[in-house]
Amino acid sequence: MFMRATLRKARRDEKALFYLHGVEAPRRPPTLSGMTHRSLIIGASGGIGSAITAKLQQNGSEVTALSRSADGLDITDEASVKEVLDRVEGEFQLIFVATGALELNGNGPEKALKELDAQAMVAQFSVNCIGPSLVMKHALHRLPRNGPSCFAALSARVGSIGDNKMGGWYSYRTAKAALNQMIHSAAIELKRTHREAVCVALHPGTVQTDLTAKFAGNHPTVTPDEAAHNLLSVLEGLSPRQSGQFFDWQGERVEW
Ligand SMILES: NC(=O)c1ccc[n+]([C@@H]2O[C@H](COP(=O)([O-])OP(=O)(O)OC[C@H]3O[C@@H](n4cnc5c(N)ncnc54)[C@H](OP(=O)(O)O)[C@@H]3O)[C@@H](O)[C@H]2O)c1
Repeated sequence: MFMRATLRKARRDEKALFYLHGVEAPRRPPTLSGMTHRSLIIGASGGIGSAITAKLQQNGSEVTALSRSADGLDITDEASVKEVLDRVEGEFQLIFVATGALELNGNGPEKALKELDAQAMVAQFSVNCIGPSLVMKHALHRLPRNGPSCFAALSARVGSIGDNKMGGWYSYRTAKAALNQMIHSAAIELKRTHREAVCVALHPGTVQTDLTAKFAGNHPTVTPDEAAHNLLSVLEGLSPRQSGQFFDWQGERVEW
């Protein structure tokens, strides 16, 4: 009885904070196991994807882990995306896209405009923007219409136009900026049918994976396990009001 009354009062206080100050009270998030009862990971073979998969499994989620190397899921090929996803049944409270590439076919990030190559740029868009977009097209309807759910895709802070102080890395930056726009737009569409869903772009920090091995330099890095912990903690703390935004591993919004 006392517990119920205390809970009711806490809820009233949260509402009051919102109405008085126009800020959302710290949300009581669904428990990780609640929100991630069933999880679908795309890119589960990657450094971050495999760590996310392991962390969710440790937390008791029923995880479907898909990748190109293990399942033939090539995100740049819509037929492949559809075919592999059609093999998977049911709804998922969490869909996490951990695919991506910085260097493709021997083409690394450009330092100057003179290094720009049309084919290399197309390849970047294909993997880093079109691929996750095709996954959204074929997987977002697998989020439950009722109850909390989440779609998240790994973007990168370098995709932020506002945060770009260094230039360079043209193709990767613009592909990630385009991915951010896709996620923002898809979140608007998703809200019409899935009122409790969160759809976000994430920056994982600089993580010790194959992707960064040649490029991390003196940047402070974290292990994939730490990154997975950070990213899942961020997702756990988000509410539907924050859907459509871009967050870093600390849960801070990244400007577009
Ligand atoms: N590591 C970082 O510091 C960092 C920083 C900022 C953003 N990110 C972003 O985080 C994401 C994951 O990075 P990571 O460091 O974990 O990289 P990673 O270890 O190199 O893993 C890349 C993953 O992407 C998959 N992949 C690549 N091309 C694919 C395709 N055409 N179809 C299907 N899967 C494909 C790979 O699958 P297979 O191996 O099975 O082929 C692998 O699972 C990327 O989007 C990256 O831009 C990473």
